[in-house]
Amino acid sequence: MRGHGDSTTKNSWSGDWTAIKSLVPYFMEFKGRVFLALLFLLLAKLASVMIPFAMKHIVDALDSNQTQIVVVPILFLGLYGLLRLGTILFGEIRDTIFGRVTERAMHRIGLKLFQHLHKLDLDFHLSRRTGGMARDIERGTNGINFLMRFMLFNIIPTLLEISLITIILFTNYSAWYALIILIAVILYIAYSVILTEKRTDIVRQMNEMDNQTNTRAIDSLLNFETVKYFGNEDYEARQYDQNLTGWENARARNRLSMAALNSGQAFVIAASITAMMTLAAYDVSAGKMTLGDLVLVNAYMMQLFIPLNFLGFVYREIKKSLADIEHMFSLLGKEPKIKDEPDAGELVLNGGEIRFENVSFGYKEDRQILSDISFEIPAGKKVAVVGPSGAGKSTIARLLFRFYDVDEGRITINRQDIRSLTQQSLRSAIGVVPQDTVLFNNNIYYNIAYGRPEASKDDIEKATQLAHLEQFISKLPEGYDTLVGERGLKVSGGEKQRIAIARMLLKNPGIMVFDEATSSLDSSSEQAILEALSEVAESHTTLVIAHRLSTIVDADNIVVLDQGRVVEQGTHVELLEKQGIYSSLWELQQREARQPDELLSMANIS
Ligand SMILES: Nc1ncnc2c1ncn2[C@@H]1O[C@H](COP(=O)(O)OP(=O)(O)O)[C@@H](O)[C@H]1O
Ligand SMILES: [Mg+2]
Repeated sequence: MRGHGDSTTKNSWSGDWTAIKSLVPYFMEFKGRVFLALLFLLLAKLASVMIPFAMKHIVDALDSNQTQIVVVPILFLGLYGLLRLGTILFGEIRDTIFGRVTERAMHRIGLKLFQHLHKLDLDFHLSRRTGGMARDIERGTNGINFLMRFMLFNIIPTLLEISLITIILFTNYSAWYALIILIAVILYIAYSVILTEKRTDIVRQMNEMDNQTNTRAIDSLLNFETVKYFGNEDYEARQYDQNLTGWENARARNRLSMAALNSGQAFVIAASITAMMTLAAYDVSAGKMTLGDLVLVNAYMMQLFIPLNFLGFVYREIKKSLADIEHMFSLLGKEPKIKDEPDAGELVLNGGEIRFENVSFGYKEDRQILSDISFEIPAGKKVAVVGPSGAGKSTIARLLFRFYDVDEGRITINRQDIRSLTQQSLRSAIGVVPQDTVLFNNNIYYNIAYGRPEASKDDIEKATQLAHLEQFISKLPEGYDTLVGERGLKVSGGEKQRIAIARMLLKNPGIMVFDEATSSLDSSSEQAILEALSEVAESHTTLVIAHRLSTIVDADNIVVLDQGRVVEQGTHVELLEKQGIYSSLWELQQREARQPDELLSMANIS
């Protein structure tokens, strides 16, 4: 919020220009509509510029003493009405036609950004607040809407009108009129822009004070109990008073600067109108102009300054919109760290033999997580990785899925370096049950079906059975339709894990990765699921990351990891014989597992 706010006050014109340029292609989708909208914009402005002409003729007709002339003002009165109607009508048509263009651009950019965010690497997402990103998108697309509305419906029409009026005055009357108008407009715009820039800080301060006062009051009231416990009512009131004083002063400064802006603008308008009217009055009395001409000149001045009145506001908002748009496009400009090579090939699974060859990796340069890791999982076999928390086990799974690229060494599947493959083909061959499963805020059915959205109900029920979920679901009053809550917070950890297993089984990939996938389950449910899984795993290459060693005794190979290094490797029996880390871990866990039973039997004896 803060950093973003700062970027809006820094006025880099080149950034604004970049933002406008990046928008252009999105508006070219409906070339015809853009052209039509511009045409109606021109028509609306022509109509509005003609209005003072009609007025001039009405006044002149009424002013003359000829008798049969009554017809003329009626004609021009009719025209006057038509022109007024035309101004509004053409404007409406222009809005209707162009609305679609803006919305389509917002649609396209929003979608592109969404797809792009999914393309960016995990690291990017882990280091950003999702809520903030959603706000950036919303601000950016709203910025487009605002920019288009005011560019097309305020800035460009006004500029057009100024040019038209200047030309009319220049060709029909003396050049002085055109000159006065031009000078007035330039002075007016310059003054408004300069003062608005100056006011930006004051407006921001005012908003900040507003926020602060509010937050302060809410925080104080939320802590009602604490305030009472410490008898600090007066202290709280004093602080609030201080905030309110700041707020009051900020408002006063804002009002003052607003007054300066408004009166400066009024001064320019008054001075130029006086000059114009003096000139016109002189020309009328000299017989060079009619009374109608004087009315016309006056009407043009009034007509011109009405839209300019909003200039300060529009200018500020457009600057803000441009900054928001630029910010949004900078998100689009972010390159994902993991990219397909230009000549990336498709993965040929062929059983799915996996090799880690001397792999070293660190999330950041200054801290190595994995050092010189080598092991292999022969096609269709099951290999387990065990080790203390923080050893780098989950990191191995993330590297295999290519959320990150290795720093040294390589990972191959069926002898193909995974960096030479398309991410799509690699990832579709690997199923992962992550350590911390997050669910979509939808029902259980949706979350399981996510593994293969086109799966039939039968397939889903089969996966549910394998993951030992059917008993849980049958107990729910709403069954599969039960909502799991945001991030799946309304189901227990074990249930969440089983949903994650079911949807991975539904995907049915050649390679399966379980990252402590049953850690939240009690031992008996875990055993039941593991039995079911071991049948499935027969035909799959499987990587199991486990904390409880009893779950992986049947693995074809066990890799013991400690502080990012492979310290032991072998089958369960081999590792026990070695009497190393694995065997002491095994002893420890066996003892822990026995303890409850011992306690229970002791209780029975007494
Ligand atoms: N995205 C990340 N950025 C920086 N460090 C990380 C990141 N993810 C994990 N780590 C660190 O890497 C180490 C290994 O993590 P991990 O592979 O998750 O361990 P575990 O063996 O418990 O699964 C930990 O010390 C952890 O703090
Ligand atoms: Mg882990």
